[in-house]
Amino acid sequence: MASKKQFYLTTPIYYPSDNLHIGHAYTTVAADALARFKRHQGYDVMFLTGSDEHGQKIQRVALEQGVTPQKYVDRIVAGFKHLWKTLDISYDDFIRTTEERHLRSVQRIFQRLYENGDIYKSEYEGWYCVPCETFWTERQITGEHVCPDCGRPVELVKEESYFFRMSRYAERWLRYIEANPDFIQPVSRRNEMISFVKQGLEDLCVTRTTFDWGIKVPFDPDHVIYVWIDALANYITALGFTSADETKFRHYWPADVHLVGKEIVRFHTIIWPIMLMALDLPLPKKVFGHGWLILDSGKMSKSKGNVVDPLVLVDKYGVDAIRYFLLREIPFGSDGYYSEEALIKRINSDLANDLGNLIYRTLTMLNKYYDGVVPAPGLEAEVDRDLRQVARAAVLDAEAAMDRLEISVALEAIWELVKRANKYIDETAPWALARNKEADRLATVMYNLAETGRILAVLLVPYMTSTPRLIWEQLGLSADPAAQGWAAAKKWGGLKPGAKTHRGAPLFPRIDLDKEELTMDTEKTTVKEKVSKTPKVEKKAVNQIDIHEFGRIELKIAEVLLAERVPKSKKLLRLEVALGQERRQLVAGIGKSYEPEQLIGKKIVVVTNLKPAKLMGVESNGMLLAASFPGQGEEEAISLLTVDRPIDSGARVR
Ligand code: MSP
Repeated sequence: MASKKQFYLTTPIYYPSDNLHIGHAYTTVAADALARFKRHQGYDVMFLTGSDEHGQKIQRVALEQGVTPQKYVDRIVAGFKHLWKTLDISYDDFIRTTEERHLRSVQRIFQRLYENGDIYKSEYEGWYCVPCETFWTERQITGEHVCPDCGRPVELVKEESYFFRMSRYAERWLRYIEANPDFIQPVSRRNEMISFVKQGLEDLCVTRTTFDWGIKVPFDPDHVIYVWIDALANYITALGFTSADETKFRHYWPADVHLVGKEIVRFHTIIWPIMLMALDLPLPKKVFGHGWLILDSGKMSKSKGNVVDPLVLVDKYGVDAIRYFLLREIPFGSDGYYSEEALIKRINSDLANDLGNLIYRTLTMLNKYYDGVVPAPGLEAEVDRDLRQVARAAVLDAEAAMDRLEISVALEAIWELVKRANKYIDETAPWALARNKEADRLATVMYNLAETGRILAVLLVPYMTSTPRLIWEQLGLSADPAAQGWAAAKKWGGLKPGAKTHRGAPLFPRIDLDKEELTMDTEKTTVKEKVSKTPKVEKKAVNQIDIHEFGRIELKIAEVLLAERVPKSKKLLRLEVALGQERRQLVAGIGKSYEPEQLIGKKIVVVTNLKPAKLMGVESNGMLLAASFPGQGEEEAISLLTVDRPIDSGARVR
């Protein structure tokens, strides 16, 4: 513990609710990525999450369900823990506000504030939003009697209450914020908070008497402590603050980052720091307010409600794909958009196409040219230096972005390397090097690709939990990429020649487009067919066809998923292609112009309504389009027709 620098990171503690959706998982997955990154860098990390179980809202819901609040929260919290386990959340502690350790500490904190003269008794008359558990003044709700945050009706509250002297700290707060420009991130939220406080900070009502599901005020048990005071304290109660053993508190406090959603920045940057000032404790170093994952309301219908249930998504697409999507889709501080289509697109383009194909092609070629053994690099060329430079930039850029908490930018930086390496394959054309017996160059290229795989495995440790290990194992490496440390990605050449690789299945299978899209596609086809059945026969010049005749030829974009040589044939390749949801096998005579590995991931044009034919005993269900041109010597060379911008397979070509 002593030698490493500590890093204390928290998520908000969640309200128990049956309506946990993918948006809730976002904060926790983002915090987990940060915690794993810091551990990877060698920090002594304390990562805290938990549940915020008191308050009027919980008491009401429990009552509606006919159970005690305790029974209600116990059931839901068990669900939280299951979800975090499923998403591989590596928290070090989970605090429940109904736990004795929290309860006692909150009471002692309240007592201390009272004894210091920061809490006094009076009467509260004002408005309260139960879903947000927030007090509002008449001025703030602007006559409409709805919550300025969530728009739901507020309730009039008039009761004897204790108040926290926030007003006393307004000046000190402003001075602190001025002197610590990095405390509230991003800057836009900082400016919002400053103008909020400058409008005047009133004392805060911090106890309630009209319900009892909360922590009792130690010296006046008719009052329960306001749920936000109770909840915010979790960040120090979990460390044992005011308990008999304050070792953890002394070791980890102040927190390095409180990661919170943008709607609760106000509580974390105004009420919480003032509580800490009143307790004479140091303030957290940073409160980072992230944006929301906006749900596509069309897909949030009750009948389809499970579409956004993170457990259902993990089951369908895998933990790493969901983690990657959440971390990549929401840019620094702003909102991101969720739809299943956006998720599938990310999986198909970034994971299956870019990362999966890179590793698969690399290992396929290592098998083919070196029996799976990593060769020692030979002759160097400019293109190798460029790849190495991009690898180094990816590590440094990702590191800098993570230090700014720009997780999606860090992933973008890593994908620069993934894309560069795929391009490197096309530029160096290992199949041509093999054919031309350029053994020295081939060895360098194949070593560099395998080494890029090693670096990527190390870089992906914070974001994905099984993929880095899979890449590692497939590269024939022992131990665990997480055990190498982030710095292992900075040194080129960590992979030792001689390693025996083990190619497995592609890391991320491509996902089919959803059914709605398929239905639309079928409808289009039907309309087309009707048209083509009623051609107007007109006189035409020799060799000319009319548009209806052309319309009978069904051309589509296909993506090559797999390619291999047909045994005993020099010319024929067997391809497996995706046409939207459909899979097909094609046999094509392009084996003299293309190596199979060169084709994987390519988008080609295929005639899809040709009668099936057998070529050397292998059935072909379609024909790809290619141009021929004079090659070397007698041979004619072939060039495949591809598309010049990203497009989904299955698209019609006309
Ligand atoms: N209990 C309080 C926090 C107390 S911390 C001392 C609370 N809980 S919550 O369950 O409503 O929200 C927990 C976190 O989930 C918040 O950071 C919130 O912003 C986040 N999210 C809830 N829905 C979200 C999205 N749709 N997108 C991103 N984050 C979202 O607030």
